[in-house]
Amino acid sequence: MLDEEGEVFKEVFSYFPARRRYLIRLLQTVQQKLGYLSEDAMKEVALHLGISEAETFGVATFYNQFRFVPLGKHHIVVCMGTACHTMGGQLVLDGFERELDVKVGGITPDHEYSLERVGCIGCCTKAPVVLINNIIHPKMTPYKVAEVFAGLRDKGSKSSEEHQE
Ligand code: FES
Repeated sequence: MLDEEGEVFKEVFSYFPARRRYLIRLLQTVQQKLGYLSEDAMKEVALHLGISEAETFGVATFYNQFRFVPLGKHHIVVCMGTACHTMGGQLVLDGFERELDVKVGGITPDHEYSLERVGCIGCCTKAPVVLINNIIHPKMTPYKVAEVFAGLRDKGSKSSEEHQE
């Protein structure tokens, strides 16, 4: 476990008494602080509450609000609520999976990109919608996926060039 994680656990556990009923709020708070639930996080939460790791893991995997891999530098969220799904959201999601060569819920090996799907994000008139680093990309199409992705790559290479100067 990293020191930084240890500090997060200490801080979070100080707010929540060791009661099973705080399990979900504890998991949410740890995820908010670390960006995801690591294996260590699950173990520590179980230990704090005095419940089994299997139970902690079972609850965490039941809810799709929890993620078990860290976020990439660019976090891509594809909306799959009804409006977006009807307007071709699945094709957009397939497009990102192809471009990134990762499945939804995954992260690229270089930690540059992570991909997630969510339910309605509240701007259905712009469906299908994708959020990239919290910026809305409206009316997405598989063609636009390639464009957006090329833009991100371009930005990435420019910022590393600037870094070298
Ligand atoms: S369904 Fe995608 S924004 Fe509402």
